[in-house]
Amino acid sequence: MIPGIRLVLLGKQGAGKGTQASYLARHYVVPHVSTGDMFREAVREGADLGRELKSYMDAGELVPDDLVIRLVVERLGRPDADRGFVLDGFPRTRPQAEALDQALDSRDGVEAVVNLLVPDDVVMRRLSGRRVCADCGANYHLEERLPREEGRCDQCGGRVVQRDDDTPAAIARRLALYAEATAPLVDFYRERGLLVEVDGLGTPIEVFDRLVKAVETRLGRA
Ligand code: AP5
Repeated sequence: MIPGIRLVLLGKQGAGKGTQASYLARHYVVPHVSTGDMFREAVREGADLGRELKSYMDAGELVPDDLVIRLVVERLGRPDADRGFVLDGFPRTRPQAEALDQALDSRDGVEAVVNLLVPDDVVMRRLSGRRVCADCGANYHLEERLPREEGRCDQCGGRVVQRDDDTPAAIARRLALYAEATAPLVDFYRERGLLVEVDGLGTPIEVFDRLVKAVETRLGRA
């Protein structure tokens, strides 16, 4: 039986965290905990929380730490996270990384932190061409993968749209915030001996194979 894992994915916006996290979660049979997906679901549900989150996300700003931390700690406390988790998009600031340590204090901590490496010009191309299904979240790309019927999702027939934060202004802001608030976490985890750096170029399957090998080697299971 495949062992579980407690893994964090770091990497710029568009590095492929969401894509790889969903493959990894299936591979290790653990939940894929994506703060971006959690927030988009809350936005779809409406209500005050959704409206508050949308105002930050559309502008490419970070959601305040206390709110993010509360939602993630609650999520990691559910029974399906006992076997482990793949964290995608969290932590993104030093206070979030410290809160994660604290939340895992009474159980086993994070085993590995992957930094997916992709140059800026590639992430810009991936994000500006990205289209998503408004209903099921399936990903498409203007240059590489269009839905068979224009504007309709192949998987569920939902509307295929551009994410509100994939505009040039919001992408620029998200990348600036990554450099300022999130990139310092690379050293934070390197100093703890948890960091694994993986080249994020190539097809999603090529990146996945590389990533699993690197993680298994890091854990001494390869
Ligand atoms: P979130 O949804 O996490 O967005 P993000 O960080 O901007 O990341 P992306 O989804 O844009 O990129 P990704 O690295 O996941 O790449 P993906 O696999 O999708 O967060 C959205 C917002 O929520 C934030 O801006 C913030 O406001 C808020 N938020 C979330 N977490 C927060 C936190 N902890 N604290 C505060 N605020 C928070 O791939 C991108 C594209 O590239 C796709 O089209 C994909 O198909 C394509 N692609 C992927 N891999 C490859 C490949 N190997 N080759 C070619 N194309 C590829």
